[in-house]
Amino acid sequence: IPLRGYITFKDVNFGYDEGKRVLKNINLYAKPGQKIAFVGSTGAGKTTVTNLINRFYEINDGTILFDGIDIRRINKHDLRSTMSIVLQDVHLFEGTIKDNIRYGRLDATDEEIIEAAKLANAHYFIKNLPNGYDTMLTADGMNLSQGERQLLSIARAAVADPTILILDEATSSVDTRTEKLIVEGMDKLMEGRTTFVIAHRLSTVRDSDAIMVLEHGEIIERGDHEELMNLKGRYYELNTG
Ligand code: CTP
Ligand code: MG
Repeated sequence: IPLRGYITFKDVNFGYDEGKRVLKNINLYAKPGQKIAFVGSTGAGKTTVTNLINRFYEINDGTILFDGIDIRRINKHDLRSTMSIVLQDVHLFEGTIKDNIRYGRLDATDEEIIEAAKLANAHYFIKNLPNGYDTMLTADGMNLSQGERQLLSIARAAVADPTILILDEATSSVDTRTEKLIVEGMDKLMEGRTTFVIAHRLSTVRDSDAIMVLEHGEIIERGDHEELMNLKGRYYELNTG
C-alpha cells in the first residue's frame, strides 16, 4: 500500500530520562503535502519531535500515527525508508559523488541521480568538478564546502523520493548565492511531501501551513505566519527581535 504521509501526534509525552519530561502533551496533525514548522529556543524540543517520528526513540505515553497506523506497529526499517532528513549533519562517506547521492536507493540509475541533482540545484557545481559525478569525496565530504554538502543532501533526498521530509536547518551560514540555491532546491523537494521543518531562516517558516512554537517541550502557540503575528506573542517576539 503506498504511504500517503498523514502524521498525527496524540497526547504525546516524552523524556530521554526517567523523570524529566522533554515533550509535554503534544498534539498535531499533518496532511500529505503540508509543511509544518517548529520554532522555539534552544532545548525547546524541536529535534526531539523529529526523533520520535523516525522512531530513533520510542514514546511510552500517547500515540503517533502514520497514515492512521500506530508507528510502533510499523517496522523501523520500513518506516525510515519513507523518510529523509535533510541538511543537518549530512553524513557523506568516502566514495564518488554519485554513490553519495545514490545512498539508500542503490538501484537508482545514473539518469535518476543527475535528475535529482538538477532538482536539488547541485548539478551545476558537480559538473564543474574535474571528474564530475565520479569525483571522490573524502570521509565526511570534507573536500566540499558546507553549502555544497547541503546541496548534496537535498539531491540524496530527491533520489530517495520520501513520503516524509524532515528538514533540520543548519545554523551556520553559507554565502547568499548558495543560500538561494538551497532554498530553491528545498522548495522543489518539498512539493507534494509532508515536511517537518526546524527552521532558522524566517523565510522557510513564513510560508508553512502551520507553525508550532515550542517552549520547554510544550506547544505554546500554533497557526500560520499571519495568525501568529497578529497574536503578538512569542512568535511575534521571535520575528521582531
Ligand atoms: N535531550 C536529552 N537527551 C538527548 C537529547 C536531548 O536529554 N539525547 C534534552 C536536551 O537537553 C533538551 C531537550 O532534551 O533539554 C530538548 O532537546 P532538543 O529537542 O534537541 O532541543 P531543540 O529544540 O532541538 O534545540 P536546538 O535548537 O538547540 O537544536
Ligand atoms: Mg535541534
